[in-house]
Amino acid sequence: MSVAKKEYKRVTVKSLVDMKKNGEKISMLTSYDYTMAKIVDGAGTDVILVGDSASNVMAGHETTLPITLDQMIYHASSVVRAAKRALIVVDLPFGSYQSDPKEALHSSIKIMKQSGGHAIKLEGGKEIKESVKRILNAGIPVMGHLGLTPQSIYKFGTYTVRAKEEEEAEKLKKDALMLERLGCFALVLEKVPAKLAQEVAESLTIPVIGIGAGSGVDGQVLVTHDMVGMTHEFNPRFLRRYMNLYEEMTEAISQYCKDVKTVDFPNQEEQY
Ligand code: KIV
Repeated sequence: MSVAKKEYKRVTVKSLVDMKKNGEKISMLTSYDYTMAKIVDGAGTDVILVGDSASNVMAGHETTLPITLDQMIYHASSVVRAAKRALIVVDLPFGSYQSDPKEALHSSIKIMKQSGGHAIKLEGGKEIKESVKRILNAGIPVMGHLGLTPQSIYKFGTYTVRAKEEEEAEKLKKDALMLERLGCFALVLEKVPAKLAQEVAESLTIPVIGIGAGSGVDGQVLVTHDMVGMTHEFNPRFLRRYMNLYEEMTEAISQYCKDVKTVDFPNQEEQY
């Protein structure tokens, strides 16, 4: 379906709900630094997620668990300086909200004050209900995240599709409804069956943004480094690579190395 796109000077949490109402799909991508955020924002992405996937993509950790609150704030403030149109959502990292609602609120306030981001995202359902309430009561917009929640990877044991079984699917549906009722402005569903994701999206008024959750949701999110093919070892079925930057950069850099060795670079025009 082709939908007339409304122009937004700055995408807000309200714009996202309007997009859902108007049947306009929402585009969301990650950024962790100024240069990437400039490109992602300039290309018209509606939401920039400063994801804790920075732990994998930027720092080379195996999981998202090691990244700290201060590191997330560093990444988010670089993104905030670059993005002029997108709504900027910042992940609360593992260990910054799980112990109690007061800690969750303090971490959220620290992110909002020190990075200038517009909203926070956190993983989980019923278990984090009181924290979500507390953060929302402080006027901080909250995006939920259900399905595969990478901060719980050691509980799951694998990164495979979640909620294939009835019991887990039922819990996910209840959690999604609870997050909407509490006042979350949007929900990420990661790696769940497309049919379930569509059912959840249709049952909620807030937008559901999917990653590996099929096309029946209200928007899509990918890790930018994956979709531009800068990373090449991670190949899940849901990932569409729009280019192969890994190969292109490797070619360019090896050409540069050759040119330096052979004194082809710099040439006459490239010096003073
Ligand atoms: O951290 C992240 O990049 C995410 C997305 C994969 C949704 O949470």
